[in-house]
Amino acid sequence: MANVTVIGAQWGDEGKGKVVDWLASRADLVVRFQGGHNAGHTLVVGNQTYKLSLLPSGLVRGKLGIIGNGVVVDPEALLAEIDRLRAQGLTITPDTLRIAENAVLILPVHGAIDRAREAARGDRKIGTTGRGIGPAYEDKVARRAIRVCDLAEPETLSDKLDELLLHHNTLLAGLGAPIFDKQTLLDQLLALAPQILPYAEAVWERLDEARRAGKRILFEGAQAVMLDVDHGTYPYVTSSNTVAATAASGSGAGPASVGFVLGIAKAYCTRVGSGPFPTELHDDTGRLLGERGREFGTVTGRPRRCGWFDAALVRQAVKVGGINGIAMTKIDVLDGLPELNICTGYRIKGEIFHRLPAGMQSQAAAEPIYETLPGWSGTTRGARSWGQLPAEAIKYIRRIEELVEAPVTLLSNGPDRDETILMKDPFEG
Ligand code: IMP
Repeated sequence: MANVTVIGAQWGDEGKGKVVDWLASRADLVVRFQGGHNAGHTLVVGNQTYKLSLLPSGLVRGKLGIIGNGVVVDPEALLAEIDRLRAQGLTITPDTLRIAENAVLILPVHGAIDRAREAARGDRKIGTTGRGIGPAYEDKVARRAIRVCDLAEPETLSDKLDELLLHHNTLLAGLGAPIFDKQTLLDQLLALAPQILPYAEAVWERLDEARRAGKRILFEGAQAVMLDVDHGTYPYVTSSNTVAATAASGSGAGPASVGFVLGIAKAYCTRVGSGPFPTELHDDTGRLLGERGREFGTVTGRPRRCGWFDAALVRQAVKVGGINGIAMTKIDVLDGLPELNICTGYRIKGEIFHRLPAGMQSQAAAEPIYETLPGWSGTTRGARSWGQLPAEAIKYIRRIEELVEAPVTLLSNGPDRDETILMKDPFEG
């Protein structure tokens, strides 16, 4: 029995929440391994809607949730999310949630830096969620981050805050933003410590035990390959590695645990924030996709940019992300469109590319090369098996499989849990 790692194959918001929830019901443990509360997963279970940002989705299914070392944890946001979900009737205790003792904390100063820098960037802003994700990862790499385990050591905390604030207050002052007081931050952290520490442990050990006991582990990715700090449309990316390999390094589970990699891709394409988006539509079709697909950010409420399916981009995500199969979501949003375009490559300054080159100017200049397929007049909604789909919808999906060089192993044709057609069970490897 394989483990499963779920990652986004486009720019995020591919509908991972529904797929992860569906898979979580069949897993024993659900592990977050990167990102932070910049992610947003909406789960609809019965008549309850749960909005998760930092917590692993498995908690909704009563499964053990693990926050790995690769995640950046805002302790206040975490406790607020726990309170919110408890108010909805979920049980969240140290028996159901474990947090890596070596995970990095997001402090209020990180959010302040994130927002001040974005404001200073003006037109060149990245469009971050403003939640301090980037600055927290920067501190980790710079070896000045405060980690969950530091909450148990007031002296370490105090020393680290000196170093951290020396850096950040200098920057904040330079940006004309208010600076932070060390004692206030220290008091805040010491007050949070007894609420966070009961969840902390060496999660790598628990994952090792789970692996040896033959338990099924679901690794739940956040954001997506095109937002990966190495492989995405840099610098318009998030600050973590979002590819499947991070499931291992971001949890301490080792590369053999990653298992089957399911890449989630919408049947079209969306993006929030700034950055290149070759297939973006600024016309009525773009607006239609946005309205039908209810394309507004879960975390920030920002309207998402919409466009045609970009097979060159998803093929790239398949290769660098290590994707074994695609879960295609929101196919029903395309119902009734007379024609559909699929991007197969780009024309950039007179040259043809079948991948998105890394240079910023090339990415900005990329003009999509389209292949046009007929749409379908029927609906994909209500189909419970592959054979019940309109013939043109099957052709569309088959063509995408060829172009991205990966099979579509799961299809989501509506928001409800049972509006899912499974071609291959990812837990079967
Ligand atoms: P950050 O992760 O807040 O630093 O934002 C960097 C970029 O990633 C921005 O373009 C965000 O809009 C994007 N981003 C971050 N998290 C998500 C997500 O969960 N879904 C989609 N885009 C995201």
